[in-house]
Amino acid sequence: MPESVFLLMDRAKSAARAEGKRVIDLSIGASDLPVPGELIAELESAARDPATWGYCLKSCTHRFLEETTRWYARRFGLELDPGSQALSLIGSQEGLAHLLLAVTDPGQAVLIPEVAYPSYWGAAALAGLEAVPLELGDDLLPVFEGLDPEVLVRARLMVLNYPNNPTAALADRAFWERALAFAEAHDLLIVHDNPYIDMVYEGEAVSPLVLEGALERTVELFSFSKSFHMGGFRLGFALGNAEAIAALEAAKAPVDFNQYLGIQRMGIAALRLPPDRVLRDVQVFRARRDALVEAMQGCGVPVDRPKASMYLWMRLPDGMDDVRFALAAVEHAGVALAPGRGFGPGGHGYVRFALVQPPEVLAEAGRRIAQLLD
Ligand SMILES: Cc1ncc(COP(=O)(O)O)c(C=O)c1O
Repeated sequence: MPESVFLLMDRAKSAARAEGKRVIDLSIGASDLPVPGELIAELESAARDPATWGYCLKSCTHRFLEETTRWYARRFGLELDPGSQALSLIGSQEGLAHLLLAVTDPGQAVLIPEVAYPSYWGAAALAGLEAVPLELGDDLLPVFEGLDPEVLVRARLMVLNYPNNPTAALADRAFWERALAFAEAHDLLIVHDNPYIDMVYEGEAVSPLVLEGALERTVELFSFSKSFHMGGFRLGFALGNAEAIAALEAAKAPVDFNQYLGIQRMGIAALRLPPDRVLRDVQVFRARRDALVEAMQGCGVPVDRPKASMYLWMRLPDGMDDVRFALAAVEHAGVALAPGRGFGPGGHGYVRFALVQPPEVLAEAGRRIAQLLD
């Protein structure tokens, strides 16, 4: 399994705090905004309803799945069948790890952008897959040309994620058309992990499922952790290719009995919230992004303004080691960042800021980091 640099950061933070230092923690991408009150009320009433107390077999996920497909049709104009093209998940991370196990044989290859959410590398290792990094271009999107043809023969799927963690890259329709054409040419399944679908500040998040032919080879994973701040509740869903969904369901069957029905009811209520409710929280993240970027730019650090997601991905000056820099940032600046290499081989020399503090705290963190870089 890949070694976690996040454990190293955790130890550094604990050591600094043990010395009485205050650390601004921007190293973990967990939303700190409150879960909408209506959803908590839903859970409270569900907890008192004995109908929610037992095991939850497939039929007990049906209302939730119907709501997910209604939400998708409203948003993207495509009707999906809740019975065969949708599945409930205990978070998108759980879904992705089980999907890799479900649709591959050990020894096959999975293509993963060279900088990616760390769990993809671990999920590939769990499934006995060769993880093949896809190089990123200047736009931080993967380049599909120039891959070893022998690797492509072994490749079974490709995992993508836009808006991206950690790079904040947003993929447009033209990118998705290229990705789908590449997947068709090499008979790959596309797994699109899409938890940041709502966290867009400029442009729009594209769902590849709507492209012609995509349903033959695409599964998209959605989450309640970011849009509704429900990370601890563990709820998500998969939509897309019916065979892959059936394989995922079969792989999950010996492992879990689906998420607690009360939490699924929270999910139904969340998908019915007026879009303005989610947008309000997105504006909170936009203001945080602006505060951090402007503080750093004001100190002469040339960072780009991220278009989406809840992260700022910063390239360190040439030759600077990201883990050493992140450790020094905790010790000397009192700011915890995520070292880039924790996200894959392309992350060396980068650090990630998570926008999980109020604007004034982010601005202070930005100034301290700028000073450390000076
Ligand atoms: C790209 C990506 N995928 C998945 C997850 C986890 O989502 P969930 O809480 O639905 O498992 C995260 C959490 O940070 C993420 O950044």
